Amino acid sequence: MASAEKLKVLFATSEIAPLIKTGGLADVSAALPVALNALGVDIRVLVPGYPQVMGALKTRSRVATLPGLPGIPPASLIASKLPSGLPLLVVECPIYDRNGGPYQDATATDWQDNDLRFGLLSYVGALLSTPGSPFAAWKPDIVHCNDWQTGLTPVYLNYVHGPRARTVMTIHNLAFQGIFPPQSANRLGLPPQAFSIDGVEYYGNLSFLKGGLQFADRITTVSPSYAREIQTEQLGMGLQGLLSRRKDRLTGILNGIDTDAWDPESDPYIERYYNAARLASKQDNKRALQLRMGLQDSPQTPLFGVVSRLTDQKGLDVLADIVDDLVELPAQLAVLGSGDPALQRRYQALAQDHAGQVAVQIGFDEGLSHQIEAGADLFAMPSRFEPCGLNQMYSQRYGTPPLVHGTGGLLDSVVDCSPATLKDHTASGFVFAPLDAVTLLENCRRSVAAYGDQRTWRQLQKNGMKRDFSWEARAQQYLDLYRALPVG
Ligand code: ADP
Ligand code: GLC
Repeated sequence: MASAEKLKVLFATSEIAPLIKTGGLADVSAALPVALNALGVDIRVLVPGYPQVMGALKTRSRVATLPGLPGIPPASLIASKLPSGLPLLVVECPIYDRNGGPYQDATATDWQDNDLRFGLLSYVGALLSTPGSPFAAWKPDIVHCNDWQTGLTPVYLNYVHGPRARTVMTIHNLAFQGIFPPQSANRLGLPPQAFSIDGVEYYGNLSFLKGGLQFADRITTVSPSYAREIQTEQLGMGLQGLLSRRKDRLTGILNGIDTDAWDPESDPYIERYYNAARLASKQDNKRALQLRMGLQDSPQTPLFGVVSRLTDQKGLDVLADIVDDLVELPAQLAVLGSGDPALQRRYQALAQDHAGQVAVQIGFDEGLSHQIEAGADLFAMPSRFEPCGLNQMYSQRYGTPPLVHGTGGLLDSVVDCSPATLKDHTASGFVFAPLDAVTLLENCRRSVAAYGDQRTWRQLQKNGMKRDFSWEARAQQYLDLYRALPVG
């Protein structure tokens, strides 16, 4: 694609911060398009019209009527703007746009019609670049799809005759694949030939993600290590064969972070601003966090923080296994998270058993997540697998060295503390493997010992704080990838 031409990119996603968020996809969807826009890309974000989105729109205009599919009624395309100022396109379809989570109801049960809800999003993602688009005023050159919810976009486009957009499919998490009964294929208006082993068929069912990976022009994932890991049986979640077959089309690009929203020098949520030259002020944030969460006001006791979805992926069951030993070190633990009800109960019980040393808040709380990053001494991420992970980067920026399992993006963004990395001033946290209770506890001990040595500790904090995790450089990698795609 000619470099002088202004590329038109449709960024299709099921989450966008601050409007609708369950995890890192929302953060990426908010920040990456802004960074690409700054590089001269004409980018628009496409999201479903959840009530949380519709309610947040300051302006809206209905720009097109979207035709239905066999199982999906006609919908509307609404144009608006994001808080960042970027143009936003919303697919409004009242029967799907209901209160609750984007994927699940209040009892953590998947919505029964997720195939249709996200089939519609995928379909619109495809439709807008085709010759018959009902929104001819703006036709994307590229549709950038994110996770299974937009996985059918490359599938629909594969069967379009005539000019069409190229597609990039980004895997944020291979654990979620969007698998539905075969009957969904008809309701979604997929041509019969799409339902084959070389298409969307996956062990007799329909897989949104497999379809996307099969037909996308390029596949990316959110760290180089995860790009390698997903080609293995251990972390390929059944798609390793397809991914290794397409490895020449697969790239790992580490996520960036929003360095304005996550800045200890200006974070409105935290008790006291600080930076690498004023690290003593971080202590006030620790005291405020201890107070807020009901932990003992104990300035010298190392405080571990956790902000996470409470799911099997995050390995927090292994952390729960060692909490009794952790408090003996001594250390404190502050956990903010929600998810698996059994794990929530387990952490609540640990907080009761170790009142004053372990504090747990179940729920989603943006402000507290910033306060934990600023107030904790160390940040724990013992994830079983982690495509990228954002909190370990926030932590380094906040002078809160992360303790992470050496997997995926954690491996690519944290430099383990060792004599060599201290010497060359790259050490920024603690990386361990394998993930088991003994190794985790050993590494908690190791990090607590480093915390006790003020010179080492200050260096670790400063090394992390000076690292550049901004989106600018990462966005350039996406732009290079877009530019290398042939025109449709
Ligand atoms: P994932 O997307 O797998 O959940 P990431 O590390 O990429 O993991 O992103 C998680 C994002 O969600 C971070 O911005 C984190 O701060 C935020 N987050 C997770 N759980 C909570 C919570 N309970 N309250 C507030 N923010 C949370
Ligand atoms: C996923 C992954 C996480 C990644 C995020 C954003 O939810 O679990 O590792 O950081 O997407 O790409």
